[in-house]
Amino acid sequence: CRVRHYKFNVVMKNTTRLCSSKPIVTVNGKFPGPTLYAREDDTVIVKVVNHVKYNVSIHWHGVRQIRTGWADGPAYITQCPLQTGQTYSYNFNITGQRGTLLWHAHILWLRATLHGAIVILPKLGVPYPFPKPDKELVVILAEWWKSDTEAVINEALKSGLAPNVSDAHTINGHPGPVPNCSSQGYTLPVEGGKTYLLRIINAALNEELFFKIAKHNLTVVEVDATYVKPLETDTIVIAPGQTTNALITAERKTGKYLITASPFMDTPIVATDNVTATATLHYSGTLASSSTTLTIPPPRNATSVSDKFTNSLRSLNSKKYPAKVPKTVDHKLLFTAGLGVNPCPTCKAGNGSRAVASMNNITFVMPTIALLQAHFFNISGVFTTDFPSNPPTVFNYTGTPPANMATKNGTKVYRLPYNATVELVLQDTGMIAPENHPIHLHGFNFFVVGRGLGNYNARKDSKSFNLVDPVERNTVGVPSGGWTAIRFRADNPGVWFLHCHLEVHTTWGLKMAFLVDNGKGPNESLLPPPSDLPKC
Ligand code: C2O
Repeated sequence: CRVRHYKFNVVMKNTTRLCSSKPIVTVNGKFPGPTLYAREDDTVIVKVVNHVKYNVSIHWHGVRQIRTGWADGPAYITQCPLQTGQTYSYNFNITGQRGTLLWHAHILWLRATLHGAIVILPKLGVPYPFPKPDKELVVILAEWWKSDTEAVINEALKSGLAPNVSDAHTINGHPGPVPNCSSQGYTLPVEGGKTYLLRIINAALNEELFFKIAKHNLTVVEVDATYVKPLETDTIVIAPGQTTNALITAERKTGKYLITASPFMDTPIVATDNVTATATLHYSGTLASSSTTLTIPPPRNATSVSDKFTNSLRSLNSKKYPAKVPKTVDHKLLFTAGLGVNPCPTCKAGNGSRAVASMNNITFVMPTIALLQAHFFNISGVFTTDFPSNPPTVFNYTGTPPANMATKNGTKVYRLPYNATVELVLQDTGMIAPENHPIHLHGFNFFVVGRGLGNYNARKDSKSFNLVDPVERNTVGVPSGGWTAIRFRADNPGVWFLHCHLEVHTTWGLKMAFLVDNGKGPNESLLPPPSDLPKC
């Protein structure tokens, strides 16, 4: 194993997209940011220096951070942010993981431009469980706002209304050809006959996406840095925070083919950015002036396309990569995830109310001291451990909501003993209207054992759980008006954030944290914090 050193200078950089320029927050002046390469079992040390006016923290999304919660990154959950001028070295091991993940800012809405790929190769000499590709390429999907994203969310919080949507989606930083500007969009160069591994990442703030390439099928071999049974498809569905590795064979020999990243939102209750980002798959030897073979992306509400893809994913579950699904469960939890409205006398534009979001009817309030610090140093008054295992009131989650369902504010965690096995059913609620929620759990991978529409019915639905080869991930979409059941083992002591990866929902409070106690064994406790951990 090696130690990989990286230096991330967080700096402003004037960047032009859609014919207009604005200063954006970047790592080393790049958008998307630099790719972090490592091998399974390597140690990674990233020295982050904050040169911008915002407080900053960086999250290594999907890296398990076993016993090193101090390097996880979510601001006020595992660390206080780096203030202007401060430096912090994130120091962690990549234990037992290989594949594609992403890093991103985990404070405010800085993730909009502060993100990049993490590529973890297998240990030296260990092959992929699929044919070796000729080449590998990172494909990052994101969004672009013409205006300043911090201003967008601050304005929304003041008014109580939903924030403005982005002006475009992007593929490796580019929306596509923009008439009247010299911008051509991203070109993915291929050679006829060769096979490519695309490491596709959705880093967008607020949009699930469909990804498609004209006249080329994709074979999905990995999601969220876990191997899956090869799945051939013409369309990939990918939620913010998710990653998908897919093989593509350049079997057409020549030509140019359209690549699309288009929004998926089955029941949009607020406006969505409806613009499809495009890029070009360009065979070597093809003239730049030749015409591009087009493809039509699925309609925005193509739930059937999304369901088919999602329901087809299975863990590889081979001898070498077995799916270690917990067969018994110590903690059975049901968390509702939903949007709602709370009174807000100062919200004039919102008519005296504001949009909120909650889990089990609790709108999470960010503390001012990081939860992990409060836990480790026994600082009282920062959080309470009474996050409910079930919704406080049972109602028809996907039907007409009861009147007066204002949420309660709180900084509550759910406490788990070390190594407890957990089944968590995430139930969407239709408080304003149903919406999909890509829920991300820090510190763990989980198995997606079940998924369905309507209200979860424990007796009936648990009978059909897949405990053999369910897909293993770190971020899962809870279907609009439905539920998803996950299982995991709490084998990582610390405080771990669980939240919707649609940034607007997180901002509104769709988040909570698990507190996992230390175990009794020699390697079962949280390590002490590094000396340069930022102070609050
Ligand atoms: Cu990718 Cu808590 O986030």
